[in-house]
Amino acid sequence: MTATFPDFACQSAKLFERAQAVFPGGSTRNQTYFPPHMIYAAEASGCRMRDVDGNELVDFHNDYTVTILGHAHADVERAVIEQARQVMCAALAVPAEIELAEIICARNPNFERIRFMVTGSEAVANAMKAARAFTGRPKIAKCEGVYHGANDFAEVSLDPTPQNWGQEAPRSIGFSEGVPQGVTDNVVVIPFNEPDAARAILEAHAADLAGVLVDLTAARCGAKPASPEFIAMLREFTTASGALLIIDEVISFRMSRGGAQEALGVEADLTTFGKIIGGGMPIGALAGRADVMSLFDATQGKPAVPQSGTFTAHPLTMAAGQAMLRAYDGEAIDRLNELGDTARAQLRDALVQSGIGGQVTGESSLFLMSFTDEPFHDYRSYYRATADRHHRIMGALFPKLINRGVLMAAWGFGCLSTPMEQAEIDHLSEAVFESLREVRDELAEAAE
Ligand SMILES: Cc1ncc(COP(=O)(O)O)c(C=O)c1O
Repeated sequence: MTATFPDFACQSAKLFERAQAVFPGGSTRNQTYFPPHMIYAAEASGCRMRDVDGNELVDFHNDYTVTILGHAHADVERAVIEQARQVMCAALAVPAEIELAEIICARNPNFERIRFMVTGSEAVANAMKAARAFTGRPKIAKCEGVYHGANDFAEVSLDPTPQNWGQEAPRSIGFSEGVPQGVTDNVVVIPFNEPDAARAILEAHAADLAGVLVDLTAARCGAKPASPEFIAMLREFTTASGALLIIDEVISFRMSRGGAQEALGVEADLTTFGKIIGGGMPIGALAGRADVMSLFDATQGKPAVPQSGTFTAHPLTMAAGQAMLRAYDGEAIDRLNELGDTARAQLRDALVQSGIGGQVTGESSLFLMSFTDEPFHDYRSYYRATADRHHRIMGALFPKLINRGVLMAAWGFGCLSTPMEQAEIDHLSEAVFESLREVRDELAEAAE
């Protein structure tokens, strides 16, 4: 069935209208709101989803990179059902948590000990607490514009604009209204992939810095990986100053068995995880050096960093995560990464052939389309390069892609899942090509 998004008479639009009475703005998760109305899912299997109107979508979104094995993977389903029959929720530990921890820790020697949480945001929050407790220092450094989850500290300078980002060094700006100054005063903001400028800022705060938090793939800086020079500077600075290097692998862990840090050759002191490692169930995790992780040890009384939660290490998540990581082994990773190279190459071709042009960036099985030829390497250059034309094109492109059965993030970001084959990549690139041709014609008409 072919969708005609947006369609105010469809079931999704009617559900969205009903939701207005219970949710502010009709939504309880902003990321699932695709204006002008939400699309409600009815079923999902493999790399395909069906919405409540019967429209089929090939899922290049995968819930912001979570469902890397696609939907309803047989091993994950089986593991969850078996675990639900044994113990679904309890104030006792379950063996599955040790098994999932063993699988993750075996993937990289940097993961000496691990703790589970319920979200990636919680993992990042605990990494920052651990860094402060370990060093006795108050400040965390992070890159301008980079997302590390829903936490006042991690959100500092997430979306600055030329009006407020300052002329020189990045400023610390609260994300929500009402963020206290105590938060912004304790977050040092550095530019991504600018080793010299970032080092100068870090050195100015060295005595107060507990940790440097970095995502080596930083999608919001244009999805180009951190350069070897930037990575080397971060490792050298943190080792010399005694701050901890915290690598956020919530998205990038998919890159290789040992994550982006293995692929890009750097040793983290602490690593945060989320998304794929829960097999589609809510998860976060923090792993790292045994001496730092011992801050969470409760066997000798109150730990330096008490960490717990009702749903921490939930049995169903532990079971799903194990099944997922067993299936996402070295062979599956290599195959999906190769398919990612093919997807990016075909998308580049589609952009050129359509006459719209632009760039396709991203690593492993991630891709980002940016409708600009201006170079970018950090938040500000990506912001400027995509400020106008990119957003106009993406706004016009998104509904056309939905109507051709392609779901991806509305800003041009997408990813692959293991059930995908060459046929799905062809579907993606043809849908992008045909939709961009229409966008090009519409833009030309509007300019006349
Ligand atoms: C790099 C990164 N870190 C942390 C998070 C937060 O994870 P969660 O949404 O599970 O809280 C995200 C979520 O998108 C992320 O992309």
